[in-house]
Amino acid sequence: MAVAFSFPKPGIQASSASQSNASTLCFSVQTASRTAFFPFKMLLEARCLSHALAERIRCSATSSERINSNASTSSPSRRTVGRGSKLIGCGSAVPKHSISNDDLSRIVDTSDEWIAVRTGIRNRRILSEDETLAGLAVEASTKALEMANVKPEDVDLILLCTSTPDDLFGGAPQVQRELGCTKALAFDLTAACSGFVLGLVTGTRFIKGGGYKNVLVIGADALSRYVDWTDRGTCILFGDGSGAVVLQAATDDQDSLLGFDMRSDGSGQVHLHAQLASQKADARDNLGESNGAARIPTKHSYGFLQMNGKEVFRFAVRAVPQVVESALEEAGLTAVNLDWLLLHQANQRILDAVADRLQIGHEKVISNLANYGNTSAASIPLALDEAVRNGQVKPGNIIATAGFGAGLTWASAIVKWG
Ligand code: ACO
Repeated sequence: MAVAFSFPKPGIQASSASQSNASTLCFSVQTASRTAFFPFKMLLEARCLSHALAERIRCSATSSERINSNASTSSPSRRTVGRGSKLIGCGSAVPKHSISNDDLSRIVDTSDEWIAVRTGIRNRRILSEDETLAGLAVEASTKALEMANVKPEDVDLILLCTSTPDDLFGGAPQVQRELGCTKALAFDLTAACSGFVLGLVTGTRFIKGGGYKNVLVIGADALSRYVDWTDRGTCILFGDGSGAVVLQAATDDQDSLLGFDMRSDGSGQVHLHAQLASQKADARDNLGESNGAARIPTKHSYGFLQMNGKEVFRFAVRAVPQVVESALEEAGLTAVNLDWLLLHQANQRILDAVADRLQIGHEKVISNLANYGNTSAASIPLALDEAVRNGQVKPGNIIATAGFGAGLTWASAIVKWG
């Protein structure tokens, strides 16, 4: 397996990295500014990749994006290989406005019964005009930092896993500013519904590489911004939300990340995307043509989320058990060792089918999608936070997490809580 990081140009926000071969894991990393690019690139080259990861992944990127697996020879002096990452805090936040299945049945031709039977979803939260995604991310992060007993100024890295930032150039620095994490490097990571798992693993790599002690990994999405509210095939599924976890450097034997596997296949993008769409040129845009001046480029914006539900369903039920099994194998565990199965909250039928294939009892499946629907990158940390706070998940419990969705991307991390 290989990893390709994409540094998108303005106008190419999501999924562009996935247009490569199926054996390369691809996701997009957004930095807020040109100045942020260089520290991140250097960090990847000098510190981020541990020997373990470097052995597992070969990087197939363009020369400017290539991660040099020999970079350890020029590592900064504070590099310490072999550090574990302990999961020590979580938090979540959802918008105040709730939309029920009955509410939706007044907008599109559907019913509470159809939605509940086919998906398990009954309600979802949607951002109001006076709410922002960054605001949700800040609320979730504040709770996670409080639980972890980590001060904002002691956070070294913030990864905002999102496909729907308030700012195309990335939302993480705004979250950093609001939280007062003055010393942290903050940037976005875009991989749709797999974003949180990829962010979690990425965060552990920064700790393992050395120099990073406290890492905040946030999953936050507002897919309501890209849903066609006249399309009953998609609008019933999605909601907005945010969840966050705090990772802290620990000894190897305290490591919360027991195993992982991450995949992507851009050939499946046709089944699930929200692509760049041209807008009709404004009359003023073509004024220059009449006097021979250069034509102003066409305006662009993102189109509605488009999904072939049946294909995505089949993909999830086939691919997720495989990636969980492979992560379990790396951890030296089997499904019987798991306390919980925590999958991306897309559809209760997917959760049940994956559990059946892994021969995991449904009582071990964490599910809160009835209340929130599919909140994309937020769904796993949101469900984790609820399960920790209501006492389901206890310190030492082993959880198989798995994200899957647009890209296509899918990934599993086997983690120990607390
Ligand atoms: N209400 C009532 N009827 C509906 C609705 C609705 N909301 N939506 C579709 N139907 C109708 C269809 O028109 C069709 O009617 P027909 O038989 O007369 O043609 C019938 O119900 C069956 O439609 P299907 O699309 O075949 O229904 P299906 O059982 O596949 O369920 C669903 C659709 C819920 C979308 C399912 O396919 C699914 O959950 N897929 C996975 C989606 C997913 O997990 N996405 C995760 C990734 S998201 C991300 O990464 C951003």
